[in-house]
Amino acid sequence: MSLDLHKYVVSVPDYPEKGIIFRDILPLMADGKAFKQATDEIVDYAKNKHVDMVVGPEARGFIVGCPVAYELGVGFAPARKKGKLPRPAISSSYDLEYGEATLQMENDSIKPGQRVLVVDDLLATGGTISATIDMVERMGGVVVGTAFIIELKDLNGRQKIADYDCKALMEY
Ligand code: PRP
Ligand code: ADE
Repeated sequence: MSLDLHKYVVSVPDYPEKGIIFRDILPLMADGKAFKQATDEIVDYAKNKHVDMVVGPEARGFIVGCPVAYELGVGFAPARKKGKLPRPAISSSYDLEYGEATLQMENDSIKPGQRVLVVDDLLATGGTISATIDMVERMGGVVVGTAFIIELKDLNGRQKIADYDCKALMEY
């Protein structure tokens, strides 16, 4: 029987600043059945897309992406916050719902022509996922889909990635 994943998300008002409702997904990840269901739903979405690599942004994109890559039998490449990578990297900067940031990927982490699934825990303004897609494409990767556990509809992130197939398991 399928679980209502909404029950595993805790909404925290005024975090990290006044006016933001933070959708905390860690209780979902802490529940084995809910985490497995979310992982399986993303794997189902991706399994006919002939994915070669999964990419996810730091930090919660790692938690979502790694079990998906494992289930698909493909590799995982992280998009890290600036200054963490030891080898030559490419960068992409972006605005967030609260603040701004730069992500980086090692510049050989995607090979030209590889089919890439880009995942994250949550789609808000779309800044994080757009910066990640930008780096994948600059390395010659082909983004065949994007997947999120949560989409925050009011922030219109989906518009920013309108050129890409997009799956969200839950909406707020
Ligand atoms: C959160 C979330 C997404 C991003 C979504 O990450 O995990 O990656 O924001 O927002 P956007 O669509 O407006 O870009 P955050 O930057 O807080 O980093 P964290 O995972 O390291 O906490
Ligand atoms: N990342 C960006 N906006 C967020 C929110 N409202 N809740 C959780 N993570 C987020």
